[in-house]
Amino acid sequence: MSRRIAILPDAVADQIAAGEVVERPASAVKELVENALDAGAQHVRVELENGGKTLILVSDDGSGMGREDAVLALDRHATSKVRTVADLTGIATFGFRGEALPAIASVSRFTLTTAELDGGGTELVVNGGRLDRVGDAVRRRGTSVTVRGLFFNTPARRKFLRSAASETRAAHDAVATLALAHPESGFELHVDGTCRLAVPAGQAPEERLAAVWGREIAGTLVPVSYAAGAFSVSGYVQRPGDAQPTGRRTQLFVNGRPFKDPFLLRAAEAGYRSAIHPGDRPSLYLRIGVGPEDVDVNVHPAKLEVRFRDRIGVERVVEEAVRHALGSLVAAAPVGAWRPLPAGTAAGGAGLSAEVLEGLFGTPAAEAPERPEVDAGDEFDVPLLQVFDAYIVYQAQEGLVFVDQHSAHERTLYERVMAQLTGGGAPAQRLLLPLTLELTDEELEAVERHGEQLARVGFEVGAFGGRSVVLHAVPSPHPRFDAGSCFREVVADLARGRFGGWANGLERFAATYACRAAVKAGQRLEPSEMRSLLLRLFATDLPPHDVHGRSTIVQLPLDELERRFGRR
Ligand SMILES: Nc1ncnc2c1ncn2[C@@H]1O[C@H](COP(=O)(O)OP(=O)(O)O)[C@@H](O)[C@H]1O
Ligand SMILES: [Mg+2]
Repeated sequence: MSRRIAILPDAVADQIAAGEVVERPASAVKELVENALDAGAQHVRVELENGGKTLILVSDDGSGMGREDAVLALDRHATSKVRTVADLTGIATFGFRGEALPAIASVSRFTLTTAELDGGGTELVVNGGRLDRVGDAVRRRGTSVTVRGLFFNTPARRKFLRSAASETRAAHDAVATLALAHPESGFELHVDGTCRLAVPAGQAPEERLAAVWGREIAGTLVPVSYAAGAFSVSGYVQRPGDAQPTGRRTQLFVNGRPFKDPFLLRAAEAGYRSAIHPGDRPSLYLRIGVGPEDVDVNVHPAKLEVRFRDRIGVERVVEEAVRHALGSLVAAAPVGAWRPLPAGTAAGGAGLSAEVLEGLFGTPAAEAPERPEVDAGDEFDVPLLQVFDAYIVYQAQEGLVFVDQHSAHERTLYERVMAQLTGGGAPAQRLLLPLTLELTDEELEAVERHGEQLARVGFEVGAFGGRSVVLHAVPSPHPRFDAGSCFREVVADLARGRFGGWANGLERFAATYACRAAVKAGQRLEPSEMRSLLLRLFATDLPPHDVHGRSTIVQLPLDELERRFGRR
């Protein structure tokens, strides 16, 4: 009987391991920089050529290795960092698997020079896993690893490498992550002779974060500090108003070790509740602390992922931590704090009935029946001031409140329009003299595509021949509404695909129409109109932002005012 099973020769086993540990230049960079940091390096220098496909050079001023250790380090499972299974719990070094060096050396032309003291050291040359030379080298204390022609002997893998720019980006990210993890060490990254990152040793974590992510993002972050149950969470998250749909940065650590976890990021985003637009992605820098026995860091070949014993617990605490951090910001303040002071505590008031007020900005009761009724008589009996023809200001329980009139109206319209699109449609005003509008081909096409939706919000559109359309009836969302220009703007937006970030077609239409139909900044409002608008606003679900994700309400808390006047 023939034997089918054989133990793989080391060289083959190393190449197979390389498939898991070294996926692309960035993974080699990551492993080599981790080794430098594990060796106590004060300074790590990384050089790349051609995205690391031609050359990766990582040098450090760490402990270096003696000759025997250097040779041994190239053996699979050779590590100085763990001895027993128990050592794995609470391990503080990045490395512990003893796989990286042999894996990288098996798929490249690899040179390692190292010295434990300035002066005499060792040079090792390995080609595709074969040790070709062990000799003397002169260098300062520390280690340099040169990796040329990564995957030269595994063409199938080499084929999968991306463009130099994309590999460079991934390698840059890997260095940035480790620079964030070790603010006390200095880092340099040079790409094709140009310095891309240089941060000095001995930085505080905040300084390092600002240096690596840039001052611009750093200026939009607020601190997080929270603990519950077995977990602590610290770090920084982006202010809701500054989150953007693209370009965000994220970094998670557990017990100082960087890791990736999209679900935990999702949990952090959940902490924003409705304070951000659904398409926006805030930057997040979160350091999670947990007992070493409650997290397993050895679940991924490249150590990119970890496993928490209490998965639900960690997600909950991260979400709470973010909410807690944002709590002091206006955008996440509870709705109650925005309400005007009750009647009697302040003078003034237009004395209009709820029906009259609602009439000015539409009748919410019929169109959004699920909304709680607001007792207008009591709650709106406060003086309202319009400033800069753009903001409504009033006194509330906890300070001064500023409402952006356009944003507020847009927000309330959005909700109303969604109800109209899915429900009964809106009341339209028949025009005595129909409006004729000339459109472009693209706009005509947009009118056709969105005919049903335009009709539901109250536009009765007829063809006029050529590129013209006639409006026989139009909506009337507020007294100063200009139906003709609103229709033009909406159709132009639809034709140009503005608001493309809204995945749902109805929502996209509602956002477009709400934006264009709302009162604008620069329009003078009567006190009764301001009241009516606020009434409508408080009857909505009140996420504190509009369809663009901009803040609708900004509060100047009384204690802030008192602090500034030196009363506190
Ligand atoms: N830059 C370095 N400076 C000093 N020692 C190093 C360096 N790189 C690797 N070593 C030694 O080589 C060993 C093997 O490295 P590696 O294959 O990455 O495995 P691991 O980091 O998991 O131990 C390490 O445990 C360490 O003792
Ligand atoms: Mg290592």
